[in-house]
Amino acid sequence: MTENNQVTLTINGKEVQAEKGTPIIEAARQNGIEIPHFCYHKRLSVPANCRMCLVEIKGAPKPTPSCYTPVMQDMEVHTDSPVAKKAQKGVMELLLINHPLDCPICDQGGMCDLQDMAVGYGSDRSHYQEEKRAVEDKNLGPLIRTVMTRCIHCTRCIRFATEVAGVPEMGATGRGENMKVGTYVEKALESELSGNMIDLCPVGALCSKPYSFTARPWELEHTDSIDTMDGLGSAVRVYHRGGKVMRIDPIENNEINEEWLSDAGRFSYDGLGRNRLTTPMLRKNGKLSECGWPQAFEAIKEAVAKAKPATTMGLAGEQLSAEDLFSFNAFMKQTLKTDNVDARHDGSTVTAGPRAKYVFGGGVQSVDKADLVLLVGSDPRLEAPVLNARIRKNVMNNGLKVLSVGAHSDLTYPVETAENTAQVIEQIAAGEHKFSKLLEKAERPMIIVGAKATLARKDAPQLFHKLHHIADAYGVVTKAWYGFNVLNVSSTRVAALDLEVYPEQKGKDTDGILTALKGGKVDLLVLYGEGNTHIPVADLEGAKTTIFIGTHKSAYAHLADIVLPSATYTEKSALWVNTEGRVQEGKKAVNPPMQAKEDWKIFRALSGELGKALPFDSQQQLRALMIKKAPVLEQVGELVTPTWEKFGVAGKVKNEAFELPIQQFYKTNAIMRASQVMDESQELAEARKAAQQTKKAS
Ligand code: SF4
Ligand code: SF4
Ligand code: FES
Repeated sequence: MTENNQVTLTINGKEVQAEKGTPIIEAARQNGIEIPHFCYHKRLSVPANCRMCLVEIKGAPKPTPSCYTPVMQDMEVHTDSPVAKKAQKGVMELLLINHPLDCPICDQGGMCDLQDMAVGYGSDRSHYQEEKRAVEDKNLGPLIRTVMTRCIHCTRCIRFATEVAGVPEMGATGRGENMKVGTYVEKALESELSGNMIDLCPVGALCSKPYSFTARPWELEHTDSIDTMDGLGSAVRVYHRGGKVMRIDPIENNEINEEWLSDAGRFSYDGLGRNRLTTPMLRKNGKLSECGWPQAFEAIKEAVAKAKPATTMGLAGEQLSAEDLFSFNAFMKQTLKTDNVDARHDGSTVTAGPRAKYVFGGGVQSVDKADLVLLVGSDPRLEAPVLNARIRKNVMNNGLKVLSVGAHSDLTYPVETAENTAQVIEQIAAGEHKFSKLLEKAERPMIIVGAKATLARKDAPQLFHKLHHIADAYGVVTKAWYGFNVLNVSSTRVAALDLEVYPEQKGKDTDGILTALKGGKVDLLVLYGEGNTHIPVADLEGAKTTIFIGTHKSAYAHLADIVLPSATYTEKSALWVNTEGRVQEGKKAVNPPMQAKEDWKIFRALSGELGKALPFDSQQQLRALMIKKAPVLEQVGELVTPTWEKFGVAGKVKNEAFELPIQQFYKTNAIMRASQVMDESQELAEARKAAQQTKKAS
């Protein structure tokens, strides 16, 4: 045996090395040898039930499943010997006896494992003469379409639901010929990650309902991008045809999303096309009507001429990239000469400075190593479902202990809760709470602070001061371990803070702007993008002129006198900063619709029209200026651990509960609010909640 627990074996006559315990199928894959398989998946348990991965092992009496058999020293494996091939061909024939000949009308056609393997390992004849069985389809809700006759009983969906998503509602009933896969009680899955089962299903039994019959894989072009539905920044591939986004799938990225994607990221794409602003608009006789860009710019020029900088204000919303935020900030502060600017719709007063107070500094991957997690005002299942699955994995595999102070939904793993009041944090800091002992005992404790429920609190500085103290006192941040993490729901917030999109001198912040609006003291209000429903639209009324720059015909747009149409995340190449503070580049997949324009181009053109042109003419120049302002933005793709500096203000925290950070998971931003699929999902979630409450009450 060689060093480092490695063993040497031969696969198809080639000498290879692999770590002891590695399944043969993985050792082969690491050495460029593919073994056909259906049920095996590296992130799920190994049931070895499809038998497609049979190989010949010298000395073994019969072909052996390679997904289940670990490598051993001097083992001699053959994946393509006559014995192995005969076994694989036999299994393929058995798998196909009940499989329908649906390929021409099957959504999986062109990306189907069974189709590919049948070509590679199957036969063009079958011995089976009997009638094929048919299985009734299941109704799994608005996201997944089932054609259960195609199911080959690999059980990947069942294992995913049970092991990763933590909703053990999928299962198999019956045996042999009568085996059926589905939910035990016919209903939609209660999971924000259910769409991943579509990727896992090796056949077309589970397909995307919204994508069904809309395109064939070979008609689609694809572009790699970043999901902006939550703050995690999962890697995604955007499939498009003729300028329309047709499908979104995750890309494997072990550091962030492994290979999962939340249902919001996967299925909300119909919201990219629905209810879009496609041309500039002007309010005439009380009604918004379409106009050209020159007319809209002319109207803005008139409004700017009438407004003083002191009564000009701007608010930036969500799903804005670093370029968008930088150009908006520069437009407001340099062209309109006002410091009344804020991108913190929730009324938070946190500013740049130590990045540790607003980023998930340890990185998403560090969750795998923690031995205790303290959630403070956080519901990771709703704020970042993929992160929640990662926490769950650690709970299931290593017994990670999870403590929580704050409101949360069913997180799909055991959680020890404390009274929901910020004063518990004070007690933990003083070593007087039952959680103090648990934190003391932990070797790699982690704190996850939900940004939404904490940063907007009026006592946030005191709360963060206490949390800093806890982190120091219990070894949450040491030289060897960084466990202080802030979970942002927004894909915009970290960049907004890095780029100081808030009053830098004595300008008004969100609260100040809202007060000025109430008092009728705003001449010009620039609403850029939409917030995630923190501010009731009625509170934004009252400016003499309101300009809305955004993507959808929402209530915000209806408030405005002048509307400029901008681009969604799939319509621009841009830098996105995720909750870890990691900068990632998303590429432009399609053009903005009709007359809509990329955001930075709008601000650049408008600033020129107003006679105070912003100092960039290309995205490259813009990025250079942006990086000058926030040098951390240059480190694309890297996780930059923040320096552990003091933050917060000493003082008492309020005896107030942490609110549930997200009330409507499927409606958290403009794209999701425009999506019909998300509408249906939200309706279902609410009906389910109401039914549960009725059941509880009875
Ligand atoms: Fe064809 Fe695959 Fe669909 Fe079966 S699941 S009908 S093999 S494309
Ligand atoms: Fe496997 Fe798909 Fe059947 Fe589930 S539905 S058992 S993933 S073939
Ligand atoms: Fe090995 Fe299914 S992949 S038995």
